[in-house]
Amino acid sequence: MKVLVVGSGGREHALAWKLASSERVSQVYVAPGNAGTAREPKVTNLAIESPDALCDFAQTEGIGLTVVGPEAPLAHGLVDRFEARGLRIFGPTRAAAQLESSKDFAKQFLVRHGIPTARHATFSDPVAAHAYVTENGAPIVIKADGLAAGKGVVVAADEASAHQAIDSMLVDSAFGAAGARVVIEECLIGEEASFIVVCDGEQVVPLATSQDHKRLFDRDQGPNTGGMGAYSPAPVVDDGLHARVMRDIIRPTLEGLRADGIRYRGFLYAGLMIDSTGEAKVLEFNCRLGDPETQPIMMRLQSDLLDLLEAAVEGHLEQTTPRWDSRPALGVVIAAGGYPESPRQGDPIRALPANTADLHVFHAGTAMASAAVAGEGSEAQCVTRGGRVLCVTALGDDLASAGRRAYAAIGEVAFEGMQFRTDIGHRALQHHG
Ligand SMILES: Nc1ncnc2c1ncn2[C@@H]1O[C@H](COP(=O)(O)OP(=O)(O)O)[C@@H](O)[C@H]1O
Ligand SMILES: [Mg+2]
Repeated sequence: MKVLVVGSGGREHALAWKLASSERVSQVYVAPGNAGTAREPKVTNLAIESPDALCDFAQTEGIGLTVVGPEAPLAHGLVDRFEARGLRIFGPTRAAAQLESSKDFAKQFLVRHGIPTARHATFSDPVAAHAYVTENGAPIVIKADGLAAGKGVVVAADEASAHQAIDSMLVDSAFGAAGARVVIEECLIGEEASFIVVCDGEQVVPLATSQDHKRLFDRDQGPNTGGMGAYSPAPVVDDGLHARVMRDIIRPTLEGLRADGIRYRGFLYAGLMIDSTGEAKVLEFNCRLGDPETQPIMMRLQSDLLDLLEAAVEGHLEQTTPRWDSRPALGVVIAAGGYPESPRQGDPIRALPANTADLHVFHAGTAMASAAVAGEGSEAQCVTRGGRVLCVTALGDDLASAGRRAYAAIGEVAFEGMQFRTDIGHRALQHHG
């Protein structure tokens, strides 16, 4: 079967790599992909981005299954278009993707179905929003309602920064239409985990648990980023908590969607805050896999990803149980200089470690530049193309050895301005004492 993966990040590289390893897959196309997907065996990049062109390609090439990586095409209804043309695609429809594309939609949904989440109120009037902050005090969380590429949330430690966030979103339109409404939430304390499931509309299959690191610098300091590293499993989600999350959060979510007349088929990612008593609340939903969580999760997946996604598209997930490597996996992101504010672009990546059974270098912001542009050697050269550049992901007998393997490989990577955290996994290592 030929399959198509939509997107260009590390998540899509990991999906394409895993799909290509299936004996049933003859060819993986990635649109548009990156320099890493271009080098994978059985994987080809496509310079196609418009939804109609993607549908046309899938139709004329006889693509058996399309998988959508990022949230934006889902929120814009790519799945609806494919389905209207009778093309097989894995991902939620535009209506279902509102769980991510509108935080107010998600909060109303959670409240309506009694699923644990932070107390909240939604405002489009700045005067009322300011009054709510004054009434409730700090710390308090201000969120742009719409998609804001991970930059639309301010966890305000004091009232002044909460008021400032409200003005920037509702008055100065810092996020455009995405910030025309704000969700203001009670600030929850605890440890975060990513709980991702595959849904076929009726049944769900949980993927391995994971945790990511959002802050740029070691010890979780510095600005928020798209994610500087991740590992799987998340030790904070022990068997008891796993069962409670399935019972109190995941199943009620699927039932709620059905009750609301929304068929959800795709990856569903619940971002959880787990308090010191082990109680989990939903921080947000994402309607796709996490990046970088996908990279360690795919390293651990031993069964066939195509079988799993096909079962979901065909509505018989109950017959599928993914198999996981019992070893943990850990991925460290190497970001471009200047990330996240103004990432450098076009720096030649002078060395890349070789992939092995226990180590894979997933690419994100990379491209192939001609020798003239890169100014080195005679072959086309891999260069940075902004933001997060690579995610070096390793398996190990325990998390510490996975980390040692990933960091040893990072020692070989060299490009101008590269930055990475040296403490990915520190929270999980503390759990193990
Ligand atoms: N109610 C809350 N209490 C404490 N921290 C929060 C709360 N909501 C969000 N956060 C923090 O802000 C981050 C981003 O918020 P989230 O809702 O996941 O939005 P997005 O991923 O779209 O930016 C979370 O990962 C978490 O660290
Ligand atoms: Mg989030």
